[in-house]
Amino acid sequence: MTSAEAPNGTGIARLRLLWKLFRDERQNPEPFYRALAAESAIDLNQRYGLAQTNVLDIGCGPGWYAEALRQHGATVVGIDGSVEALTRADPPITGLSIGDATRLAFPDASFDGVFCSNMLEHVNDPEAVINEMARVLKPGGWGYLSWTNWYSPHGGHHMNPYQYLGTRWGPRLYEKRHGPPPDNRFGKELFAVHIGPTLRFMRNHPQISVHRVEPRYWPWARPITAIPLVREVLTWNCLVRFTRQDI
Ligand SMILES: C[S@@+](CC[C@H](N)C(=O)[O-])C[C@H]1O[C@@H](n2cnc3c(N)ncnc32)[C@H](O)[C@@H]1O
Repeated sequence: MTSAEAPNGTGIARLRLLWKLFRDERQNPEPFYRALAAESAIDLNQRYGLAQTNVLDIGCGPGWYAEALRQHGATVVGIDGSVEALTRADPPITGLSIGDATRLAFPDASFDGVFCSNMLEHVNDPEAVINEMARVLKPGGWGYLSWTNWYSPHGGHHMNPYQYLGTRWGPRLYEKRHGPPPDNRFGKELFAVHIGPTLRFMRNHPQISVHRVEPRYWPWARPITAIPLVREVLTWNCLVRFTRQDI
């Protein structure tokens, strides 16, 4: 089991380190994701206290976040739709299982916290995922939802920056010039998830109380998440922190 050091603070040195790791992400994803996982776990522990809590990691991939959250004393169950993703760590991380984020196999109100990082843009029904996150949270429990929004500079994943040509022409032109991407094909494993409609859905949700919206990688620039259109580009990766409210 390997652990990672979380990048320090919120300033330039942190961004420089994350950028360096991100540039190598395609060839060597583990250091980037482990650093982000360590940072997220510290943040969540400071906000909510993770010791002796029950946390669900939705779309957990190889389990780097689950492992980081466990280091703060949480009991973490991870689910993912892909066996290949679940077994990618060497050795594989335990306590993860196959599951569908749009139809979670857990009873209502069964977790103190629900974590979902960089998965929402990979499902064709993001609202179903949000409904499920709210359903399985205990009243007062915390939710962490982050995703790469479509008009982010990284929103097209392999086909960046063709997403700026829109969902109809962007993927077509990309494939015409470069052939199909190795993964994250639009309409199959990648979908256009925008910030505006997602926030509207969450703010109108009877079980969700949205507490804070921020750009995940530059949280100090939080005011941009309140500006329609601008936020769709500059946020890069949108993080919504919420709690499940009593009904
Ligand atoms: C980009 S990875 C993110 C992994 C990890 N959460 C992270 O932030 O590094 C997206 C993951 O979502 C998973 N996924 C996509 N659709 C899913 C679904 N409907 N249910 C569960 N997992 C899903 C994929 O298999 C993949 O492992």
